[in-house]
Amino acid sequence: MRAKLEFDLATPEAPPATSVQAALKLLKSGFLFRYAEMGSEGNEAALLEQEFATLLARKYCIAVNSGGSAIFLALKAAGVQPGDKVLLNAFTLAPVPGAIEHLNAEAVLVEINQRLVIDIDDLRKKAESSGAKYLLMSHMRGHVADMEAVSALCENIGIKMIEDCAHTMGATWNGVQTGNFGIAGAFSSQSYKQFNTGEGGLIVTDDEDLAARAILMSGSYMLYAQHSAAPPEAVFARWKGTCANHSMRMSALVAAILRPQLPLLPTRNARWRWLHDRIAARLKTHQLVRLPERPPEEDYTPTSLQFFMEGLSQSQIEAVIADSTRHGVPIKFFGGDVPTGFTSRAPHWAYIAPQPLPRSETVLATLCDIRLPLGLSETDADTLAQVVIESLNEALP
Ligand SMILES: Cc1ncc(COP(=O)(O)O)c(C=O)c1O
Repeated sequence: MRAKLEFDLATPEAPPATSVQAALKLLKSGFLFRYAEMGSEGNEAALLEQEFATLLARKYCIAVNSGGSAIFLALKAAGVQPGDKVLLNAFTLAPVPGAIEHLNAEAVLVEINQRLVIDIDDLRKKAESSGAKYLLMSHMRGHVADMEAVSALCENIGIKMIEDCAHTMGATWNGVQTGNFGIAGAFSSQSYKQFNTGEGGLIVTDDEDLAARAILMSGSYMLYAQHSAAPPEAVFARWKGTCANHSMRMSALVAAILRPQLPLLPTRNARWRWLHDRIAARLKTHQLVRLPERPPEEDYTPTSLQFFMEGLSQSQIEAVIADSTRHGVPIKFFGGDVPTGFTSRAPHWAYIAPQPLPRSETVLATLCDIRLPLGLSETDADTLAQVVIESLNEALP
């Protein structure tokens, strides 16, 4: 009798009762827009910004309406102009090159390695050949590169780094949290991230000009003084009137749902890590499975699990996935001809110039991905691993 997982892997983590209470209170008040003209007393979004800046050990925080908006605004506030080149690691999600396209800038894709992170030699090469002055470093699926080496390279060659931390809320490299290496870090609170508000984004930075510009561009009208994790008036005075309003604010309602989740981060991440490592330990015993290496410097916060199906053709991998999906485990695949679900890769992004990425294409050709909802019990986790192992066994001669 084959194993079958009954738990739906698309189940997001519901916000806690304290989020529901805060949301109801705000709904009853009617003050859902973050900028009240009568003042900012008890403003949920401003309080969130203060608390998130403290969590990330950064001076400034700007709450916006999505992770993609956070990346767009961070890049724009950092000075990216139409036509500028922006380096980007080739393993990422579509909204990331999408943010570069939104700026009418040009994505220069950098190869990744077998660890699923940016290839530093290719980064150096592409930085020199393209003359790019920005790096959008996407910590895709929570895999963190050697950030000391990346930061040192950026400093040496005068590149401003913006980190996409959508999958690394709370992750560290050598004890330093992601979002602290670049001039700005962008986070998401879309439902499948560490915090669930449906939609939401946050920018953190220590750069006062970047912070002021991002606040003005997010759509603060003349009410920017209602931001509490923000630079002083004199900095805004330098930029007022020169920054377009892109209306990407976070609503007070989203902030109210998010704030009570902040203290849950360590518990949630510990549970995610436990689920990931338990399932990974079982999968790696299979001869067709290889896990990406995780160096000791990386303290990862996995909301999903990645593995390579080794030694199988694309159609064999697709057959394994179809079989495991029938048994309740919809594995995602980065090597498919067409993008599915949340997986896509450079050849699917027809809006950016085609670029040869032979090494990344080889890595992604066998890369599989499983979402790990926090609601999975220990038994569910073991069943999930068993389903994948049994589906893989079907592919053995
Ligand atoms: C790696 C990565 N970066 C950025 C984003 C954008 O976040 P959002 O969906 O909040 O716009 C996502 C979304 O899932 C993502 O996976």
